[in-house]
Amino acid sequence: MTISDPKSFQVKSFGCQMNVYDGARMAELLEAEGMTASGEDEEADLVVLNTCHIREKAAEKVYSDIGRLMKRDHAPMIAVAGCVAQAEGAEISRRAPGVGIVVGPQAYHNLPALVRKAARGEAALDTDMPLLSKFGALPARRRQAPSAFLTVQEGCDKFCTYCVVPYTRGAEISRPFAAIVDEARALIDGGAKEIILLGQNVNAWRDGEGRGFDALLRALDRLPGLKRIRYTTSHPNDMDDGLIRAHEDVEKLMPYLHLPVQSGSDRVLKAMNRSHSADSYLRIIDRVRAARPDIAISGDFIVGFPGESEAEFEETLKIVEAVNYAQAFSFKYSPRPGTPAADMEDQIPAHVMDERLQRLQALLNIQQIAFNQSKVGLFSDVLLERPGRKPGQKIGKTPWLQSVHLETNAAIGDIVEVELLSAGPNSLAGKSVTPAKAGVSGQEVAAGLHKAPAVAGATL
Ligand code: 5AD
Ligand code: SF4
Repeated sequence: MTISDPKSFQVKSFGCQMNVYDGARMAELLEAEGMTASGEDEEADLVVLNTCHIREKAAEKVYSDIGRLMKRDHAPMIAVAGCVAQAEGAEISRRAPGVGIVVGPQAYHNLPALVRKAARGEAALDTDMPLLSKFGALPARRRQAPSAFLTVQEGCDKFCTYCVVPYTRGAEISRPFAAIVDEARALIDGGAKEIILLGQNVNAWRDGEGRGFDALLRALDRLPGLKRIRYTTSHPNDMDDGLIRAHEDVEKLMPYLHLPVQSGSDRVLKAMNRSHSADSYLRIIDRVRAARPDIAISGDFIVGFPGESEAEFEETLKIVEAVNYAQAFSFKYSPRPGTPAADMEDQIPAHVMDERLQRLQALLNIQQIAFNQSKVGLFSDVLLERPGRKPGQKIGKTPWLQSVHLETNAAIGDIVEVELLSAGPNSLAGKSVTPAKAGVSGQEVAAGLHKAPAVAGATL
């Protein structure tokens, strides 16, 4: 049965942070149409599955989710959005006839019109890629959590041979400077204290007037009310001098850099079409660290790219040793339809990939714990982002993007001074202190330059 007048909705986003941003904007769009967001456990009239196509597992998940929704007593109207929608298009409704709407990541501003079409029982598919037009057609931003995403750049022209992004998100495109600054102001007015700039190649952002990404960071740094700026994800080739300098002198830019390397082997990097070498990556890291010595480095890795030998995999372990990561994301290679690597010979057997991933993750985990433990005993700024599980407990982030649990009466959205007491693999425990007690200036606190006497640890 077709739902003729959906009144409630739920948007479920999977995959990257850009999908989370798109999901929030779709929710704003549906609310502007008079629909209400349902709670997690409620059965909404319309469910938007905002999907990810980056690896096979993520892409297949959508079909099990659809199956589950169709089993409800009253099956909802189902919209498939995101990268699976873009990649598979009409094929989705053929494979899963319960799907009423298919909408790509560049076309979701048309979601309300597609809902009306589906309600009339008509086929509702839109996978057009009009450059940037969706942003102008979206409603104003509304109330924000303390940390808000802002997409400034979309798409990718790099064509790494394993990656679907250039096909699902289209060509590299930068949003105009003024539109970004306006949206940042609206986010701050809505309560955001931190803005995380997003793009598949965010540091490739540039505008028609010759401004590069560092100019954008400097402009946002001047916005009153904004306390922290972050960005993700970056390509090594777009880490230019201006951006590296920004890490030294843009006050609100947090000491954290996500810079995927994918492999430590030059032969594999070449086959991946990464256009950087292990050595050129390490030189960038050195320069960034010279600009901001305490910067936390994070990265992405793929193990088992076609043809990867044991010795080549060991070069990945070697680059991990050389960089010493604060955090990292590592994946088994997943062949994606239509990408050059999917047709390469010598695909690596699953058990070899499993074993390599385990070894890589064991090393990365050791580095992550060591990084967290290196902060124990310091005073740090913490932006409170959400309540914790225990009464009175709140969870916030250090400048280095570590989660901290602490007890405090301060409000969500406040930045408090915290003495870091103990560290686990994924978070730290801390104690709120007054800045006077820490006895240092806010800037020094943010940079973590002051060691507190070591305190025997609270457990996480
Ligand atoms: N298989 C495995 N991992 C992939 N990534 C991108 N494409 C693939 C693939 N086909 C990883 C890369 C990228 C991150 C977002 O996902 O490491 O940086
Ligand atoms: Fe994919 Fe490479 Fe583009 Fe990143 S740079 S989105 S990995 S093609």
